[in-house]
Amino acid sequence: MPETRSAPVTVPKLRAAKRRAGHAPLVMVTAYDAPGARIADAAGVDLILVGDSVANNVLGYRDTLQVTMENMAHHTAAVARARPEPMIVADLPWMSYHLDRVDTVRNGATLIRAGAQAVKLEGGSNRVPMIEALVAAEIPVMGHLGLTPQSVNAMGGYRVQGRDDAAAHALTVDAKAIVAAGCFAVVIEGVPESVGAAITESIDVPTIGIGAGPACDGQVLVFHDLLGFNDTAPKFVRRYADLGADAVAAMAAYAADVRSGAFPADAEVYH
Ligand code: KIV
Repeated sequence: MPETRSAPVTVPKLRAAKRRAGHAPLVMVTAYDAPGARIADAAGVDLILVGDSVANNVLGYRDTLQVTMENMAHHTAAVARARPEPMIVADLPWMSYHLDRVDTVRNGATLIRAGAQAVKLEGGSNRVPMIEALVAAEIPVMGHLGLTPQSVNAMGGYRVQGRDDAAAHALTVDAKAIVAAGCFAVVIEGVPESVGAAITESIDVPTIGIGAGPACDGQVLVFHDLLGFNDTAPKFVRRYADLGADAVAAMAAYAADVRSGAFPADAEVYH
């Protein structure tokens, strides 16, 4: 990919977007609604992820396990209505791809019909049959390995993964398995940078890191983290703005103007 986004961003183009082949790092950000999609589009990102992190960032849940297919279809459709140029990838929520292949393909199709060009699912070798079924139904699949938030209970919390040699090796095995099954890209979350680098080196499709170090073929951040809407954020987040504080200040100024009678002014009144 060139330094700036080349439209349209397609699955075949992305599949080849390895940095070792000379491509610029891919830029992905989450968005959950039309205004968010417009901002991401205007900023020139390559991919918009309608993440199941809508749970924590928008819907007020403590974890992503509460998110339903209805939630994901609703937010995917809102993003798609903005008609953004970046590729829209939508998360398959927990339990939407765990039961059987038919259920998985139906759920994938629901997100595609809502406006996504691809779906993302969490897990390694255990997800191979579902990935194969989605790909056979012409639904492009992005994988997600490492700290997989839908496994929060099984992992015993949001912990960095792949810290010992065996766990790191297992992640590389998983990455190869899901790529062989048809994933066109893989998100790697919450692993030591050496593990992010090893996985990136071991597969021929791009890796997109979040807390996985600089060697990945791209990076993804959560909209609300990078713009400063969340009070706390993990170590790997860089805040590029403090919009949460800016919003409070703006709204407090409005409240003060209403209470003092300064709003509305003559120019803001119909005569
Ligand atoms: O839902 C999400 O925001 C994600 C990113 C953390 C990759 O899956």
